[in-house]
Amino acid sequence: MVNYKELGLVNTRDMFAKAVKGGYAIPAFNFNTMEQMQAIVQAAVETKSPVIMQVSKGARNYANGTILRNLAKGAVEYAKELGCENPEIVLHLDHGDSFEICKECIDNGFSSVMIDGSHLPYEENVALTKKVVDYAHQFDVTVEAELGVLAGVEDEVSAAESHYTKPEEVIDFATRTGCDSLAISIGTSHGAHKFTPEQCTLVNGVLVPPPLAFDILAEIEEKLPGFPIVLHGSSSVPQEEVETINKYGGALKAAIGIPEDQLRQASKSAVCKINIDSDSRLAMTAAIRKHLAENPSHFDPRQYLKPARDNMKKMYIHKIVNVLGSDNKLG
Ligand code: G3H
Ligand code: 13P
Ligand code: ZN
Repeated sequence: MVNYKELGLVNTRDMFAKAVKGGYAIPAFNFNTMEQMQAIVQAAVETKSPVIMQVSKGARNYANGTILRNLAKGAVEYAKELGCENPEIVLHLDHGDSFEICKECIDNGFSSVMIDGSHLPYEENVALTKKVVDYAHQFDVTVEAELGVLAGVEDEVSAAESHYTKPEEVIDFATRTGCDSLAISIGTSHGAHKFTPEQCTLVNGVLVPPPLAFDILAEIEEKLPGFPIVLHGSSSVPQEEVETINKYGGALKAAIGIPEDQLRQASKSAVCKINIDSDSRLAMTAAIRKHLAENPSHFDPRQYLKPARDNMKKMYIHKIVNVLGSDNKLG
């Protein structure tokens, strides 16, 4: 049993309370590799931002849970080495799908877990979430739950509305489960293909997706004033990275994300955690493709992983400073 406090990590409670009050959101960046961890820490330290480093089931399978936990411990020490006296770093399980995986993470140094019961019938989601909360809170680990199902790219935008979080359920859900934050569905979705071109409007040559359901967000805020809300699927899929990938041999078609002005707007509300994974994948892949195309003789991974890390760091800093507004919020 390793408690996260021994690793110098923090849970999300105070961080979220401050973010909701201050009208900004904490970045939750997924990581699978050492380079992503380094880029996240460098960006957080340089901008003096709290940060959530999150690990999916796929990341655990790829990199091994013990290694990722030790990378997170290393992240705290690395942040201090970079001059940040009191880093605020959360190690979070992303999309935990069973009590067992949440327990394993809680027992092994995670400071926050998500139990994603969003695909279950309502009462089963309540029961599973409550079981995780009851266990997690014994160790002061915070729990994110989810209500509503994120839309997939095949969904018609109008049909997707039926998966949106139902505001009339949130009070009952939050009260009965005791969860610390709630992920909601208001039109975001996972991956680099969030909308089809047909779902978008062409404005000045740019495909603009339909807006997020801010009316539903407002209703949820009204029902649960000040309660921390989470947005998944919030990559904006920068077109310059998509173009670089395609220019150097990639084949990413119609990759469309959430416009950053909408994420900026959401960050000012009770949305206090914004999940970004795909943008990091794009930044990494674009830099590696470009480097290898321009330097065909290179075969030392450090030669192409360095520009990849630098490009991810640039993206993380941009999100923190220009989109989420979590810079200078430490302490
Ligand atoms: O929500 C999904 C995250 O982007 C993690 O993706 O399961 O492929 O690691 P993954
Ligand atoms: P993106 O695919 O939009 O980056 O979303 C990531 C996410 O929600 C991780 O849980
Ligand atoms: Zn997600």
